Amino acid sequence: MKKLIFGCLLLLAQLAHAQTATYAILPKPAKLVEQKGTFKLASNVTLVLDKDNADLRRVATQLADRIAAATGTRPQIKTGKASGQSIYFTSAKSEKLGAEGYGLKVTPKQITITSAQPKGAFYAVQSLLQLMPAEIFSPTTVTGVDWSVPCCTVEDQPRYAYRGLHLDVGRHFFPVSFIKKYIDLIALHKQNTFHWHLTEDQGWRIEIKKYPLLTQIGSKRKETMAGRYKDNKYDGKPYGGFYTQDEVREVVKYAQDHFVTVIPEIEMPGHSMAILAGYPQFGSNPDKIVPVATKWGVFEDVLFPREETFTFLQDVLTEVMELFPSQYIHIGGDECPKVQWKESRFCQDLMKKNGLKDEHELQSYFIQRIDKFITGKGRKMIGWDEILEGGLSPNATVMSWRGTEGGIAAARQKHDAIMTPGNFCYLDHYQTDPKGQPIAIGGLTPVEESYSYEPTPDSLSAEEAKHIIGVQGNVWTEYMRTPEYVEYMVWPRAIALAEVGWTAKDRKNVDDFMKRLDVHKKRLDLLNVNYFGAPINGNFQYQMPQDATASK
Ligand code: ACM
Repeated sequence: MKKLIFGCLLLLAQLAHAQTATYAILPKPAKLVEQKGTFKLASNVTLVLDKDNADLRRVATQLADRIAAATGTRPQIKTGKASGQSIYFTSAKSEKLGAEGYGLKVTPKQITITSAQPKGAFYAVQSLLQLMPAEIFSPTTVTGVDWSVPCCTVEDQPRYAYRGLHLDVGRHFFPVSFIKKYIDLIALHKQNTFHWHLTEDQGWRIEIKKYPLLTQIGSKRKETMAGRYKDNKYDGKPYGGFYTQDEVREVVKYAQDHFVTVIPEIEMPGHSMAILAGYPQFGSNPDKIVPVATKWGVFEDVLFPREETFTFLQDVLTEVMELFPSQYIHIGGDECPKVQWKESRFCQDLMKKNGLKDEHELQSYFIQRIDKFITGKGRKMIGWDEILEGGLSPNATVMSWRGTEGGIAAARQKHDAIMTPGNFCYLDHYQTDPKGQPIAIGGLTPVEESYSYEPTPDSLSAEEAKHIIGVQGNVWTEYMRTPEYVEYMVWPRAIALAEVGWTAKDRKNVDDFMKRLDVHKKRLDLLNVNYFGAPINGNFQYQMPQDATASK
């Protein structure tokens, strides 16, 4: 009898797992009702749009492309009423679903996608693909697959409006093809923002027509730190790279086609050695030779709040805003040492003239001037949480990275905040016991820890909490030399953060997430993603540490 009960329990557990496996959508939808039966994705399936619309047609075409690649048969796209085996795209009023929400109903006869905006339909398609056999993600035709979709009803919309993933291309440069793949994965997990960290001490990575030395000099460094920071060793090899304006346009357009907004980050006044390498007149001393940095860390050579510097930055931002239609422009603002400002007659006089009591207020003066410029162009400025020091600029949104305090302080001052605290959101941390892992910057943030993050702090009132607009994973690439290495660090932790951003708190469950992730890994394999835990592919050239221990 005991054996029988045990057997029944085991069977139930397996069934539960099988169900999770069948409906393994990441991030978890707001509501999913499983139903009996399946929709057979036959070779004569048609995609039907109730009304023609260029964006919606693009979403349908993206679905048709995927079906064609994996099954070998391209479905037709039609406009009008749905009949026969069809996937029907229909519109709904926006009040209920919002701009990003969608309904998805799978019955044996028809799949219906309901959305107020094409973006909702795009997210419905991401969910639909994750209801299909994993082979739908195959880049080449697969035969012998039962292409059926389990019946269900999904009603879904995100918890937060801002769901981002960042990439530092300053420390290491990554080609456009990789950036597009990164955007594909952002979109697959219903994140909507790619924060492109384009400038650093170690490299300026975006062509600016008016200041050619930014890339002629600033995009190249003599050599790069090799191995651990404390060893202070260098590889002796010149390193460089930058994106032309045409390439930037190509990336922005590609992202738009996948409903991803690209936010450019142009760092100031710190992390600016690559600017000073070409244009030392914007720093402490026009005669100073400032090299593009070859070592990691924070440096004392920073921009000075001179009129020429503001003219320069406004010119740069003008070109940047022409390239990036995003509402937000990120201006950095983090880790700016004040040593040179303290020692400068010019800075001290400027402080006196403007009644600024210390160098933090001077930084605030700097940022406020930039804020005024950006706001005057109809955009919004984001800065790292250091921009709170010395007084927050009137229109600033704060990106909270040194814990959650910056986000809390911003929300209390009625400013929007995006939460990216290191313990949960820094994907350059180790993700497991550092022993045997490629060198990382330090820290330890396993996927479960990223998943456990709750972006809205309990300490905020309901009104203040509305200013917490979302969450982002940050990917600093000091130790990530190759695309494969980036993928190894980012996935699957960024998927955990995507679920943090999308799924309501009471719908989250880490065990359930890990089960869905198990299914999802087969999709990532087919997409050729070198995620942590993936079968190591021959191309992955990570630095294996000699005596790995977390360096924190
Ligand atoms: C940062 O990690 N310095 C924003």
